[in-house]
Amino acid sequence: MKVIERINDLKIIDQKRPIAMIPTMGNLHEGHLSLVKQSIELQLNPLVTIYVNPLQFGPNEDFEKYPRTINQDKKNLEKYKCAYLYLPEKMELLEGIKKLKAPYSKFLCAKKRPGHFDGVITIVNRFLELIKPEYCFFGQKDFQQQLIIQNHLKANKLSTKLIVGETVRDENGLALSSRNNYLTQTEKKDASIIYKYLNEIADQLKKIHQDTFNDISKSTSIICKEYKNKFKEKGFDVDYLAIVNSKNLEKIRKDETDLLIAIAVHYRGVRLIDNLLCDLSLP
Ligand code: PAJ
Repeated sequence: MKVIERINDLKIIDQKRPIAMIPTMGNLHEGHLSLVKQSIELQLNPLVTIYVNPLQFGPNEDFEKYPRTINQDKKNLEKYKCAYLYLPEKMELLEGIKKLKAPYSKFLCAKKRPGHFDGVITIVNRFLELIKPEYCFFGQKDFQQQLIIQNHLKANKLSTKLIVGETVRDENGLALSSRNNYLTQTEKKDASIIYKYLNEIADQLKKIHQDTFNDISKSTSIICKEYKNKFKEKGFDVDYLAIVNSKNLEKIRKDETDLLIAIAVHYRGVRLIDNLLCDLSLP
């Protein structure tokens, strides 16, 4: 694996095989690495970026203590046969950077973390400009993030294609996240209730739809209220729990079937997010 630190050295990238850019903030786990694996299966040349992006952290968030494990990350990337690792030199990367505003600012995480996605799209756009990859990979775990990137590529008529990787979970169903490291083993086990409840909600929505061909839009707020209470009883502080249209994150309208159930909670002081796609037109 070639490690690149300076923008000038990005020239050494071998463009014979299409490049798959995989931006990360490091502390790599099986979720990140599944994106590398997938890109190799598609005969692409993976280029992982590791950069803890200060632009996407709020003033009271965990930028300082965000886990940085570069040596272990390098070993893992070598193991997964990653071709390139870009570890940008901070000053150079941010110098003259074009600050962008992200769409979907009224929804889900954007509402709770103002400026977060502006920071994300600003840095991802910088990587896109520097690397000009044929493909980029993002995880479904951060659903709103991949939707914003998709929107950005389309709005700017960029030729880079986006591939979305499925969420990788631990044996109990908790979505892997670098922030899970802040929890103990027992807390992680308790937090697997998030995925369990998301599935229960999906089952309920499907049942209502099948039994009655009911207007699902009337049930969503009742179900969310019920489950917010359930989470509260288990010691979770719910940031949001929403059932929305998966194409645009807006409120479900009558007869819409492509749903996204999305959640963010604080558990033992740690912010955890997850989501589940629910297509009511499928059996
Ligand atoms: P980070 O949280 O490190 O995630 C990097 C990529 O890995 C994202 O596309 C994310 O959706 C994906 N990912 C994280 N957990 C996953 C899991 N359990 N299963 C599958 N994929 C998973 O997201 C960011 O960094 C930053 O916002 C970034 C895009 C790098 C911009 O700074």
